[in-house]
Formats: sequence, C-alpha cells, structure tokens
Amino acid sequence: MARLNRSGFCIPVVLLLNLVIGLEPPVAGAAGSDAAKGKTLFDGKGGCVNCHGPSGRGDGPAGKMLVPPPADLTGPKTKAKPDAELLKTIQEGRPGTAMAPFKGQLSEQEIRDLLAYVRSLSK
Ligand code: HEC
Repeated sequence: MARLNRSGFCIPVVLLLNLVIGLEPPVAGAAGSDAAKGKTLFDGKGGCVNCHGPSGRGDGPAGKMLVPPPADLTGPKTKAKPDAELLKTIQEGRPGTAMAPFKGQLSEQEIRDLLAYVRSLSK
C-alpha cells in the first residue's frame, strides 16, 4: 500500500501537484492583453503604422527619413528585449529618436494590447 504523509496525501501526488503548479506559464506583462485590439490600435489611433509600417518592419511612409530609423519590431533585437523594457519605450518614448511617449494618448490597457501585438510580430 502507498505511504501517506501527515496531510493524508500520497507523496507522489504531492510531487505531481507541485510540478503542475510550477509549470504554469508566466503571465506578467501579457496578462489580460489582446493582440487583435493591439493591431487595431497600431494601424489606427496609435499611428504606429506610419513609422513602423503595416508589417512592423520599420518601413512605414513617415519612417523613411528618420535617423535612427524606426525599430524593426519583427526582428531578433526587439524579440530579445523583456516586456517591461518595450512597455517603457511605448509609454515614455526613446530620447534621441522619433519614438514619442504614448502614455498621455493611450491607456495602460491599450499599451498592453499593443505590446501583445508587437510580440505576435516576431514569433
Ligand atoms: C514618428 C515615428 C514613430 C511612431 C509614430 C512610432 N514609433 Fe516606435 N519607434 C520609432 C523609432 C525611431 C524607434 C527607435 C529606434 C531605435 O532606437 O533605434 C522606435 C522604437 C519602438 C520600440 C522599441 C523597439 C526596440 O527593439 O527597442 C517599440 C516597442 C515601438 N517603437 C513601438 C511603437 C508603437 C506600439 C507605436 C504606436 C503606439 C510606435 N512605436 C509609434 C518610431 C516611431
């Protein structure tokens, strides 16, 4: 017969439960965000498409004359950056570049939806 520990659970069952809990995916940053809404904002209200282009490669009509050029959001450089850093760039902009702060124009939720969309571009 299987041995029971003090809480009455069979030890292998407890280990299995720990494994299941430990394997839950990290949700910070992407929690409650919606990439489809993010795309609508990217192409519309946010105006991101003008610089970053319809595919996010940095080839939008207004991006052509910028130095430095708009980031290629589909590339490995953006992909390697943590959510917190990309969120900060969208919220506060990037000094010395044309990337403006959007926190006054877009809600926190909208910025999270945009991040979810940006993430979907480099999968
Ligand atoms: C006026 C042009 C312009 C607009 C509009 C614009 N961006 Fe940018 N974006 C840039 C430039 C320029 C950079 C910086 C490139 C660099 O640092 O070399 C940048 C950088 C970024 C980065 C950082 C990428 C990285 O790898 O660090 C993100 C994310 C981003 N933009 C998202 C957005 C989103 C989302 C919007 C719309 C809400 C937006 N941008 C609108 C020009 C623009």
